[in-house]
Amino acid sequence: MKNKYLYIQTFGCQMNVHDSEQMAALLADSGYKTTDNAKLADLIILNTCSIREKAAQKVYSELGRLGKLKDHNSELIIGVGGCLAQHLGSRFHKKVSRLDFVFGTHNIHRLPEMVAAVCKKREKITSINFHKNIHSIGIYAPPVNGQLIAFVTIMQGCNNYCAYCVVPYLRGPEMSRPPGDIIEEINKLADQGLKEVTLLGQNVNSYGNTLEKGINFTSLIKKIGKVSGIERIRFTTSHPRDLSEELINCFTEEEKLCEHIHLPVQSGSNRLLALMNRGYSVEDYLKKVDRLRHGCPQISITSDIIVGFPGETERDYQETIDMMEKIRFDSTFSFKYSERKGTAAEKLEGKIADCEKQRRLKLLQDLQDKHTLEKNTELEGSRQELLIEGRSKNSENDLMGRTSSWKIVNFKGKQELIGKMMDITITKSYLHSLRGKLIEEVGNVN
Ligand code: 5AD
Ligand code: SF4
Repeated sequence: MKNKYLYIQTFGCQMNVHDSEQMAALLADSGYKTTDNAKLADLIILNTCSIREKAAQKVYSELGRLGKLKDHNSELIIGVGGCLAQHLGSRFHKKVSRLDFVFGTHNIHRLPEMVAAVCKKREKITSINFHKNIHSIGIYAPPVNGQLIAFVTIMQGCNNYCAYCVVPYLRGPEMSRPPGDIIEEINKLADQGLKEVTLLGQNVNSYGNTLEKGINFTSLIKKIGKVSGIERIRFTTSHPRDLSEELINCFTEEEKLCEHIHLPVQSGSNRLLALMNRGYSVEDYLKKVDRLRHGCPQISITSDIIVGFPGETERDYQETIDMMEKIRFDSTFSFKYSERKGTAAEKLEGKIADCEKQRRLKLLQDLQDKHTLEKNTELEGSRQELLIEGRSKNSENDLMGRTSSWKIVNFKGKQELIGKMMDITITKSYLHSLRGKLIEEVGNVN
């Protein structure tokens, strides 16, 4: 039988990256092998994002490019999934005539059935219903090519309705996955040689709210800590309002929990935080940062920040800059506010011009680069434990690993070390990575 090839392109967040892995796993059962050459593909899927307008625009331009492949291959099937697909539904077919099927965020499990139906009838399909039980949440994506690190979805959806955000509308209400299912998946991954898991959810701190009493995020982490073979646990994303003392203590109590938290602050102005419906003040946030650093001095803290939210004055913006100076994040993802249809912020007055948003973003990013470099420089001479992930992108002779704090370290080392946990001395720091030397080698030199 002729091989069938699948080409998946992913836009947006880690949640989408993992959804794409699940799609590939499901379609592998229907005989599709993944390829990174779209020209070879029998089936193309774009897993879309619509969190900001720029992400949505990228999807349309890629669809234009990939749609042309149908000129040379009339059998080619093209489908779109993810948030933009959920948002547009059947309207996607009107916008892009070369699309065969559209599936929403709760319908990944229907993918093989939809592809089979398109093959058979060649008619356009749309499947965007929300389901009470999200069947796709537990699709198992087996590790590929010696993979050491995996994402594990622990919850779906979001109930927070931050004023700027489309996620609650496109991924549905928050729903937690039972701990037994999660542990079963992680056991399977560990049996296959996996060393590190990243627990995924829009707001992992409220894990368990839809489950029976007594199950919460900390209890889940402690259960995962007992899975043998798993050396490291990470999670993303946390909501500052729901970050509990119990979880803060977990950074010291649970050895396998990595010393890194991504804690999106969004703004340093209390006025804007209230307009954004975030449910905490700058002072609350600063207190939590203090508590985290007090319990775990090595912890790296990263964040998301939006500039140019409607009504953001120069003073509000300056308060964000002041907050950054106080906290000195290890790194941040920062964005220009992007208006999304149907969100509360769409109706707010005081929209900021794009050139002004750009100015604010640039200054903020320059400041963050300065902080990131300073933070990295502080690590020079320190001893760090690395999970060695593979070959370095920079040089054939180098390996690459990450510290517990999620920083990339490149160093000279032999292939056999890949997959091992090793101690390293940091010898040099850069903006996006560190350079290190294996401790044994340091010993030999001396
Ligand atoms: N405009 C700009 N940034 C946004 N984010 C979410 N919605 C928007 C929007 N409409 C950012 C937030 C969030 C991150 C994933 O994306 O900072 O934490
Ligand atoms: Fe969006 Fe806020 Fe939910 Fe995060 S917590 S997904 S920003 S609504």
